[in-house]
Amino acid sequence: MTKSDHEGRAPAVANSSLDLIGRTPLVALDRIHRGPGRIFAKMESMQPGGSMKDRAARACIDLARTRGHLAEGQPVVEMTSGNMGAALAVVCNMLGHPFHAYMSVGNSPERAKMMRALGAKVVLVPQVDGKPSMVTGQDIAAAADRARRAAEEMGAYFVDQFANEGVVLAHQLGTGPEIEAQLGMAPDAFVSVVGTGGTFIGVARHLKSVAAETVCVAVEPAGAEVLAGKVVEKPAHQLQGSGYAIRPPLWDDKLADLCLCVTDEEATDFRARLAREESIYAGFTAAANICASVKLLRSGILAEDAVVATVICDTGLKY
Ligand SMILES: Cc1ncc(COP(=O)(O)O)c(C=O)c1O
Repeated sequence: MTKSDHEGRAPAVANSSLDLIGRTPLVALDRIHRGPGRIFAKMESMQPGGSMKDRAARACIDLARTRGHLAEGQPVVEMTSGNMGAALAVVCNMLGHPFHAYMSVGNSPERAKMMRALGAKVVLVPQVDGKPSMVTGQDIAAAADRARRAAEEMGAYFVDQFANEGVVLAHQLGTGPEIEAQLGMAPDAFVSVVGTGGTFIGVARHLKSVAAETVCVAVEPAGAEVLAGKVVEKPAHQLQGSGYAIRPPLWDDKLADLCLCVTDEEATDFRARLAREESIYAGFTAAANICASVKLLRSGILAEDAVVATVICDTGLKY
């Protein structure tokens, strides 16, 4: 190793973990996909909470404080699949808001462990029709109901991520412009799974505003392809954090040019390949994004030299 290996890389000193949110690196996945085209992935897993939800949490809390919906020291409540909870725990901890997370027990225990370590109070809500590691739309509806009632009882600010415009703005003003700046142009396509839709909608909105021809692809679990207009046959799947077989309330039909689906087996395979071939240890939705990007580039819809941008949603350590 030489001195030059490190030159120009050290970021400026951050004032707190809050300043570590956003500005993630973009990595070329040239080993897992050797062409046609290239895949570039935003390393959202490198944020303090370990996922892209750090951006959403920061934006929602900043908006609430600025608009006077959240007072100094007031508690914050949210329903989470774990990543928004870890993200809110990071943000609330730094800003002095007690944080209460309501999570379906079907999500991985590692998420509850992380939230509790960050000072959050975590309530695990029983599943309705899902099973461990497979959380359905009904499961999260049950957790959301509990969270909403708890927020009312304790006079807390309820983030309500599925209806909070902060989850979109975070990516419209952050992730989207970052991808464009890092590539030096808008990519030919953007590929993303959909939970609240914040990541997909925000990035797609920005990229289409600078290059209307950008192909934006929504990724869904096979058998729960609501956005593709199909009948739901398999609501339980491995893509924790996404694919709730609902049209998210913030959804904007104009943005999705195409919907692609990924099976649990494909996501599991790509998760292993990401680790082995790219040394990126990520979760199932990140793997689904890469699998769908490969499918898109192999479909012939795009040019041979197309550039596809996507997201490594979270770290594999949460599973
Ligand atoms: C692991 C993971 N992937 C994907 C998503 C979906 O992101 P969004 O809510 O921005 O659509 C989430 C959301 O919590 C998540 O936790």
